[in-house]
Amino acid sequence: MPPARTGTRTPRKRKPFRPLPDPCLQRLLGGDSAAAFLRQFWQKEALLVRAAVPDFTDVLRRSDLFALAARDDVESRLVHRIGRRWTLAHGPFPARALNALPERDWSLLVQGVNLHVPAGDALLRRFSFIPYARLDDLMVSYAAPGGGVGPHLDAYDVFLLQGTGRRRWRYGRQADNTLRRGAPLKLLRRFMPTHDDVLQPGDMLYLPPEYAHDGVALDPCTTYSIGFKAPGATELAIAFLDYLRDEIALPGRYTDPDLAPTSEPARVDSTMLRKARQMLRAVRWNEKTIARFMGTWLSEPKPTVIFNAPDAPFGAAAFRRAGERDGVDLDACSQLLYDDTMVFINGREFEWPLGSRKAIARLGNERRLAHDDMAKINAVTAALLHDWYRDGYLHLGA
Ligand code: SIN
Ligand code: CO
Repeated sequence: MPPARTGTRTPRKRKPFRPLPDPCLQRLLGGDSAAAFLRQFWQKEALLVRAAVPDFTDVLRRSDLFALAARDDVESRLVHRIGRRWTLAHGPFPARALNALPERDWSLLVQGVNLHVPAGDALLRRFSFIPYARLDDLMVSYAAPGGGVGPHLDAYDVFLLQGTGRRRWRYGRQADNTLRRGAPLKLLRRFMPTHDDVLQPGDMLYLPPEYAHDGVALDPCTTYSIGFKAPGATELAIAFLDYLRDEIALPGRYTDPDLAPTSEPARVDSTMLRKARQMLRAVRWNEKTIARFMGTWLSEPKPTVIFNAPDAPFGAAAFRRAGERDGVDLDACSQLLYDDTMVFINGREFEWPLGSRKAIARLGNERRLAHDDMAKINAVTAALLHDWYRDGYLHLGA
């Protein structure tokens, strides 16, 4: 896999990740423990949680959301309903175009807000009882009254947390998933919701995949979608074949010293097919290949991500001294994963450096190493962290 790109974004200071104390997690999940929630609801049933995040206030202002929607490295969409007709446009959108929108019936959706807004990242990390490899991103929508994206299904699980304003959600599982023809969005032809709830600020709705739903803003409102990813079987296989292609280096070449004259030069004969079968039998993979593929693929940053290498990076010794004073934070865009034998960061793979397991695992899970953790790391780990710092994958703490 190619190394992730580097560029010149200004480093951002982030609040350190703190796992939610259990009572907060229980409140978020409607009184259940994470284990009970996963057993009863995850991928199975919808769950409405009132006051999941008590006193929840928006993680960014409307003007900040509009500013993100104006950027070409941020994915945004604008959905507008005029009577029964829907329109869909893709960003970037200049703020003046958004400010000129009518008073009703539109919704602006901005993906990957966690990558740009530290409080958005902190919100996403509240769901870290689910592996990071399944967590996708935080989408924030701003809708004018009457706005929404129409009745539809999503292929993935989602937690919909209500920010400002109220939104009416109708939802339910239905057998008929036929789509309306000719619409620019995937809208259900018939929508037969079994639930109808108005969400207030801080309320949250969990929906499993393939659950029909439609959320309509009653007031100007924001909704925070904590989204998950789960590869389709074909998508996974294509990605694996891509990975194998990059890995493959087979010896030899097709030879035919035994070639006999042919009267059918257009025919691909059975000798050639037999030899090709033999050559292709050398394409092999094992558990380790799959583990390496999964780690690199799952930690691959989104295509719009650019890491910011520091302009004048500290040398190894100065980096270590600064780390022992201030700790280090993973960049909000970095994905650090590991398994029993390898560590993966942003699509790159490393054997576990000797004696580094505890520190690197902590950096992956908590997304930071405090100054006292940094004081305990060995020279190999310090060298690796220094490399990642120079690549912009992590930053010295505040
Ligand atoms: C939203 O409009 O914020 C959520 C969109 C959805 O239903 O997936
Ligand atoms: Co949806």
